[in-house]
Amino acid sequence: MSVVGAMKAMPERVKIAAMCDLDEGALAEAKAFIEKDNENADGLKLFRIYDDMIEHGDIDAVIISTPMQCHVPQAITALQAGKHVMCEVTAAVTMDELWWLIENVEKSGKIYMYAENYCYMPECQIVHAMVKKGMFGELYYGEGEYTHDCTSLRNWHGKTGWRSYWQMGTRGSFYPTHSLGPVMRCFDDDRIAAIASFSPGNHNPYGLRNDDLTQTMCVLESGKLVKLRVDTISPRPHAMAYYQIQGTKGCYEANRFGGEGMIAIATDADPNGYSQWKPLSEFKEYLPERYRSGAGANAGHGGGDYYIVEDFIRAIEDNVQPELNVYKAAEWTSVALLSQLSVTNGGKLLEVPKFRPNMSWAEKRIKL
Ligand SMILES: NC(=O)c1ccc[n+]([C@@H]2O[C@H](COP(=O)([O-])OP(=O)(O)OC[C@H]3O[C@@H](n4cnc5c(N)ncnc54)[C@H](O)[C@@H]3O)[C@@H](O)[C@H]2O)c1
Repeated sequence: MSVVGAMKAMPERVKIAAMCDLDEGALAEAKAFIEKDNENADGLKLFRIYDDMIEHGDIDAVIISTPMQCHVPQAITALQAGKHVMCEVTAAVTMDELWWLIENVEKSGKIYMYAENYCYMPECQIVHAMVKKGMFGELYYGEGEYTHDCTSLRNWHGKTGWRSYWQMGTRGSFYPTHSLGPVMRCFDDDRIAAIASFSPGNHNPYGLRNDDLTQTMCVLESGKLVKLRVDTISPRPHAMAYYQIQGTKGCYEANRFGGEGMIAIATDADPNGYSQWKPLSEFKEYLPERYRSGAGANAGHGGGDYYIVEDFIRAIEDNVQPELNVYKAAEWTSVALLSQLSVTNGGKLLEVPKFRPNMSWAEKRIKL
């Protein structure tokens, strides 16, 4: 609903023309939310069947927030009907789906944006801006962790829910992109070239097939390293946005315990500054200007959900693929899919395809 709220806040640029949900209760709730205090809600159409919305919804673009296994089929349906797509995480649930998705985005010429909203969190934006200014020197290491006990979400309306199959029922780092996205944006001239995944086994009492947690080492094309932990089962407090980066002049480390992150960097004025932590709030001046306007103040994820919608709208208006394009979606999502193979093969190092436009058929394979 946070993304819907963001769209409501931009009436001059976007109109919510249609809404779809299989569940009538959810649909009614969404309708009430869209219409509340919104003069731009006239003619809102409601659908239970997605294909009907695509055919009769009178829409230019669709935001897909359904369970993960629906993402690619629904994205392709929309692209083939000439609609732009913004899609929730993860982008796909098989490697084949990733290739289908890329091929359909390329063929359609429509905008595809990956809704990796953690990249838009204010903390991540500050650190990214500082990386771009070279304040950490040359980066050579990063970490991302998603620790979120989701075991209470394994059932849905009293039945085994999609998370039991496609998340906690799947081995490997099945939900990696909240953790990889903000870190990999800091290594934006590099890419994940290989991964190896390890786990301490399976000790949960619920019969979930995912391991207790999965640690994945990502080797970048440059040889630099990014370490990933995806853990949705361990009994511990949530820490869904834990990150670390290390460069030649200093480092950033988020706070696992709920407080603000810390930075330690050497500067001309203080060459030993890297040996002492300073709170992130001392570096607020690096928050992008638009965040300071307050436009996204009411949106989720620290306002980030407003700006991700804004970037999707801008990409459509300018007809230019966004930064979080289908190739980034594929690279970050492929870590999930390949880590399943790696962890079930004793931590085998697997190559990650170099996702880019117009890849040949021969390149679209998994090298074991
Ligand atoms: N970016 C984030 O911060 C974030 C947070 C939570 C979830 N997610 C992602 O958002 C998506 C939804 O997660 P959720 O927690 O809201 O799930 P959910 O199960 O609570 O809600 C999914 C909704 O989709 C509807 N639905 C299912 N199949 C459908 C279909 N074929 N057509 C139309 N509607 C259908 C369901 O009725 C339900 O209302 C997932 O992909 C998840 O990974 C992202």
